[in-house]
Amino acid sequence: MKLKILVTAGDGIGPEVTNEAVAVLREVAALGGHTLDISAKRIGGVAIVLDGSPLPAETLSAALDSDAVLLGAVGGNEFNSLPPDKRPEAGLLQLRSALGGFANLRPAFAFKELAVNSPLRPEIIDGADILFVRELLGGLYFGQPREWNRAKGEAWNTMRYTREEVVRVARIAFQLAQKRRKKVTSVDKANVLEVSQLWRATVTEVATEFPDVTLEHQYVDAMAMHLMNQPRNYDVVLTENLFGDILSDESGVITGSLGMLPSATIGGKVNLYEPVHGSAPDIAGKGLANPLGAILTAALILRHSANLETESAAIEAAVRKVLEQGFRTPDLARANAQGFSVLSTTDMGAKVRETVKAMLVNVGTS
Ligand code: IPM
Ligand code: MG
Repeated sequence: MKLKILVTAGDGIGPEVTNEAVAVLREVAALGGHTLDISAKRIGGVAIVLDGSPLPAETLSAALDSDAVLLGAVGGNEFNSLPPDKRPEAGLLQLRSALGGFANLRPAFAFKELAVNSPLRPEIIDGADILFVRELLGGLYFGQPREWNRAKGEAWNTMRYTREEVVRVARIAFQLAQKRRKKVTSVDKANVLEVSQLWRATVTEVATEFPDVTLEHQYVDAMAMHLMNQPRNYDVVLTENLFGDILSDESGVITGSLGMLPSATIGGKVNLYEPVHGSAPDIAGKGLANPLGAILTAALILRHSANLETESAAIEAAVRKVLEQGFRTPDLARANAQGFSVLSTTDMGAKVRETVKAMLVNVGTS
C-alpha cells in the first residue's frame, strides 16, 4: 500500500517527537513492503518567523494533497502578546478548518506501568479506557462574532452550533461506541446555555438510530469531577470543542502524562493526526520529550488512514512492552526513578522501533 503523509512538526518539541513517530512509521512500512511518501512543511511559530504566516499557502496546499497530516505541536512564549488570529495556534486552527475533520478522537487510557505517575489511586484508574470524541470545527473556537473591543473595554466570543454539526459528530461517537462498550456520555451545560440545549436535544435524537448504545448526559462541571472519581464509568465521551479541549487535558491525569496521548481527527477531506500535548518550549531541543504520544499517533494513522490494523496494534503493543520493560522518558520517571532506565527522546524512539520490529517479524506481517 502507498500512503502520502505530510509532517508539520511545528514548534518546541514538535520536531523531536514527530521525528520518532516518522521513524517508527518507516520501520513498520519497510517490514510490510508498504510505500510511504513523507514530506515536511512549516506551521506555527516557526512559519511566522520564516514565512510571515502561521499557515503558509505552501503548507496548506501540501496538506490538502496528502492522505494524512501528522502535526507535532504549535506555540511558544515569544508569541504570547499576539492577537489570536496572528498566533501560532491560528495556523493549526486554519489547518483543521481547511482539512475539514470535525471529529477529534482522543483516547485516554490507564497504563498499569504508569499508575505510579498518576496522582489518582491505582484502584481508581486501573482499567480506565475512555475515548473522547471532541467536536473540532465549531463552538467558541470558530463562532462569530468574536472581538476584543479595546475602546469599549469589552470582548466576546460566540458558542454556536448548528443541528447538522451536532448530528455528524454524534453519529461518529455512536458508531465508535458500537465497536467498544456501547455507551456514550454526552457532555454539555444545558442547565445554562441554549447551545447546549440544542446539543442535548440533537444527541438524544441521534441516539435513536443506535438502539444498542446507551446514552447518558452529564453537565460539564460534574463531568470534570466524575472523570477523576470514577474514570472507569466512561466509554465514549462526546463533547463540544472547548469542553473537549479541557476534559481531554484533565484526562492526561489518568494516563500519568499528557505526553502519552495521541489524537486523530476524522470526517473531513484529509485526516489530521496530533499528539494531545503541546510544544513544551521549556524542554525543547534537550532530548527530554516523550515521543510516545506522537508514536501512538502514528499508530492511529495506520489504523484510520491506511487500514493497517495489525501494524497499528503492533505499535501500541510495542509501546506497552517498552514500558513493561522499565524504559521511561524523564516525564514518566519523575515520580519514582528507581528501577527504571530513563531514555532520551531518540533512544525511546529506537527502543520502540526495535520492539515493534521483533513483534512484526514474529507474526509475519503481510
Ligand atoms: C489542543 C490544543 C489546541 C486546541 C490549541 C493548540 C489550539 O490545546 O489540541 O488541545 O485548543 O485545540
Ligand atoms: Mg488542548
